[in-house]
Amino acid sequence: MQVFLQLGLCIVLLAAQYVPGTAVPGSSQCRRQCGNVEIPYPFGIDPGCSLGEGFDLTCEVQGGVQKPMLRSDFEVLNISLTEGTARVLNYILGFCYNNSTGSMEYFGRYGGYNGGDSSSPYRLSDVQNRFTVIGCNALGSISDPDGTGYQGYGVATCRNQSDLMDGSCSGIGCSQTTIPKRMYYYETTFFHSVNTSQIFKFNRCSYGVLMEAAAFKFSTTYIDTNKFNDTYDGRVPMILDWAVRDVKSCDAAKLNKTGTYACLSSNSKCVDSTNDQGYMCNCTNGYEGNPYLPDGCKDVNECSHNPCPSDGLCRNNVGGYRCSCRVGKKYVKENNTCSPDTGLIIGITMGLFGLMVIVMITIFWGQMILQKRKLNRVKQEYFRQHGGLLLFDRMKSEKGLAFNVFSEAELIHATDNFDSSRILGKGGHGTVYKGITKTNMPVAIKRCGVVDERQKKEFGQEMLILSQINHKNVVKLLGCCLEVEVPILVYECVPNGTLFELIHGKNQALQISFSTLLRIAHEAAEGLSFLHSYASPPIIHGDVKTSNILLDDNYMAKVSDFGASILAPSDKEQFVTMVQGTCGYLDPEYMQTCQLTDKSDVYSFGVILLEILTGQLPLKLEGPEKQRSLSLIFLSAMKENNLDAVLVSYVKGQESMELLRGLADLAKICLDMCGDNRPSMKEVADELNRLRKLTTHPWVRLDVETDAESLLGGESTGGYQIELSGYPMGESEDQPINPRSSYYAR
Ligand SMILES: *[C@@H]1O[C@H](CO)[C@@H](O)[C@H](O)[C@H]1NC(C)=O
Ligand SMILES: *[C@@H]1O[C@H](CO)[C@@H](O)[C@H](O)[C@H]1NC(C)=O
Ligand SMILES: *[C@@H]1O[C@H](CO)[C@@H](O)[C@H](O)[C@H]1NC(C)=O
Ligand SMILES: *[C@@H]1O[C@H](CO)[C@@H](O)[C@H](O)[C@H]1NC(C)=O
Ligand SMILES: *[C@@H]1O[C@H](CO)[C@@H](O)[C@H](O)[C@H]1NC(C)=O
Ligand SMILES: *[C@@H]1O[C@H](CO)[C@@H](O)[C@H](O)[C@H]1NC(C)=O
Ligand SMILES: *[C@@H]1O[C@H](CO)[C@@H](O)[C@H](O)[C@H]1NC(C)=O
Ligand SMILES: *[C@@H]1O[C@H](CO)[C@@H](O)[C@H](O)[C@H]1NC(C)=O
Ligand SMILES: *[C@@H]1O[C@H](CO)[C@@H](O)[C@H](O)[C@H]1NC(C)=O
Repeated sequence: MQVFLQLGLCIVLLAAQYVPGTAVPGSSQCRRQCGNVEIPYPFGIDPGCSLGEGFDLTCEVQGGVQKPMLRSDFEVLNISLTEGTARVLNYILGFCYNNSTGSMEYFGRYGGYNGGDSSSPYRLSDVQNRFTVIGCNALGSISDPDGTGYQGYGVATCRNQSDLMDGSCSGIGCSQTTIPKRMYYYETTFFHSVNTSQIFKFNRCSYGVLMEAAAFKFSTTYIDTNKFNDTYDGRVPMILDWAVRDVKSCDAAKLNKTGTYACLSSNSKCVDSTNDQGYMCNCTNGYEGNPYLPDGCKDVNECSHNPCPSDGLCRNNVGGYRCSCRVGKKYVKENNTCSPDTGLIIGITMGLFGLMVIVMITIFWGQMILQKRKLNRVKQEYFRQHGGLLLFDRMKSEKGLAFNVFSEAELIHATDNFDSSRILGKGGHGTVYKGITKTNMPVAIKRCGVVDERQKKEFGQEMLILSQINHKNVVKLLGCCLEVEVPILVYECVPNGTLFELIHGKNQALQISFSTLLRIAHEAAEGLSFLHSYASPPIIHGDVKTSNILLDDNYMAKVSDFGASILAPSDKEQFVTMVQGTCGYLDPEYMQTCQLTDKSDVYSFGVILLEILTGQLPLKLEGPEKQRSLSLIFLSAMKENNLDAVLVSYVKGQESMELLRGLADLAKICLDMCGDNRPSMKEVADELNRLRKLTTHPWVRLDVETDAESLLGGESTGGYQIELSGYPMGESEDQPINPRSSYYAR
């Protein structure tokens, strides 16, 4: 007994679980199929499986077949979620003449549809349904007295049977009437106005029903053999519009906090009902499924029914699809075709053109790089040939060496690409350019002439020796450039002209004192002597002449161009083409032996002494033949003991004769035909030093006057003044002249 009670309680508890609206909508407890008909949520058969009471259906077995029923009476054929419609079977109402009673009688189960009240989800579809009346003397009415208050009529008459036509329902035997929206109830009534008994011979019954217009097609048999009810077996399809109607619209549903919003799926949207209040749910574009269930809307594989052109390709993506066409064609969305793609053709053409340009540029650059590499190889080859590697090694080992190896580019930059406006002078060994280095230092850049093979190899070595020469009376070699065919030498820049200009330039001899010339000669001799003694074998200048004795800011002598001798060939074969030295200064012995010695420099220096003494050029191109060579003139004058004849006029009688004679004697032995008889450069320098002390200053000395002037604040007036105050005092052992003095040449 107790067991039974408990069992009963269990059953009650189990039943309590099926409270409407509490079961999970998609739950497997819910049947979603009844017979052949699918029952999607929000509809439900089992308790708690629908959105609400109005969506509850029953699944009944009729004739061994399961059938879903609405309100237990209307069989549901079809439920559409996307349209928000349900197709149900409605009952045909008949109004027939009873032969035996002679009166009209109603037939059929219902005379209408009762949807309950306005909160019911269902409305009679005004769009798809028609109130259809069939008969020859039929006047049927459809009315909704409690709801919309609507009353409509359908009239079908047929006085002459031959007027009837299959498929035509326009009043003859058949009429269709539309209904208004918002109807959830209707009832039908027939009126009997005319009793024409002969009509009843062929048409006994009138019929009236609200049905799906699309499901109806008039047939004359409906009249003459009363077959309408039989054809449809008493029931015809009718369309109901269903919606969630507990709120007015989507907006209201979204705002209503107490109610439940039915569109649960993502990718769903709300649609206002078109028939009365309420809303429906729908999946957004590209999705399909049940928008009333969570995750009910699934991506549509649109490509399964290929929406693209037949020659195109379809690719599905989430929420949509893409059509593409074969190469050369492009998809035109407007008419869904693949059309020739002119843009692509232009694009390809442009692309090819661009590619060509790129290829051309690449080739161009490639060639540039190759050429540059080739050039670099050539440069490196020259560098190697000229002993640059050796030089580098030594430079590395002897740190602090103030010697640079310049690149060709640096020198090109320094000289404006060896511009002719930069030329300082041209000599037998090459051209000298003025240049400014990267560090803003003025330099003299010498581009040499031709070099022979032997010297090429020793060049670096010899550069190293020359670079180490550091004497105040020798122009400093700052560096060289080896990566060119003929090496380039870079010297310090000595700005103040040459001894040649001092002696032979316009009016220059008038400005300069004899003692200054003597000092310059002495300094040049010291420089040459240093070169001769610096290394063994001696560094021979090879081209000693006044224009190679440069003057710096303080008119101090600096022997230049000494490196050039290294570059000159010494082979006898080449002598024919290369003459070393300058005419007028040439050692006659060298002319015979082709052997350049330190005594050759001494001979040339002798000629310089003659220039100082005589103020004459070493070689005159006009005049009688015997008068052309200064050394010949001088030597013959010496022989005739007639020195006065050759001396420059302003020294005569103003310098001590002892000094002039000493200079003349010195010059004479320097010019000895036999090199061995000439003194060494050192001896020449010493003798010049000695002779300088004999200077007697015979000129008018103006220092007192000048000092007075400067005391008075006046400016010096002389046009031929040379200021010697900047002369470096400490470096010179002997100081023959007061550095603060000014001398005026008369
Ligand atoms: C719904 O009705 C249409 C005809 O109106 C029919 O073709 C379709 O098969 C029906 N669907 C279901 C599930 O009954
Ligand atoms: C729902 O969407 C489908 C396809 O997107 C469309 O055919 C249908 O008319 C829509 N239904 C409603 C009620 O808007
Ligand atoms: C139509 O036919 C059905 C069954 O065949 C019957 O039950 C119903 O009464 C008939 N209705 C009319 C109006 O003849
Ligand atoms: C006609 O009326 C009689 C009497 O009411 C009834 O017995 C009979 O069945 C009716 N005929 C038809 C065809 O309904
Ligand atoms: C109706 O009754 C008349 C006589 O009363 C008879 O002649 C006729 O054939 C009947 N029709 C039908 C359909 O029963
Ligand atoms: C019906 O029409 C036919 C011809 O269409 C005609 O001969 C006949 O007289 C008509 N009958 C009536 C009652 O009008
Ligand atoms: C209709 O007419 C017939 C004969 O023409 C008659 O017998 C019958 O009583 C009439 N019915 C009515 C309701 O007037
Ligand atoms: C909100 O929803 C509840 C339950 O669905 C309903 O009773 C109520 O009328 C709704 N309120 C509005 C303002 O629509
Ligand atoms: C489709 O449209 C494109 C451009 O709008 C046009 O070139 C093409 O001929 C059209 N194709 C068809 C079949 O109409």
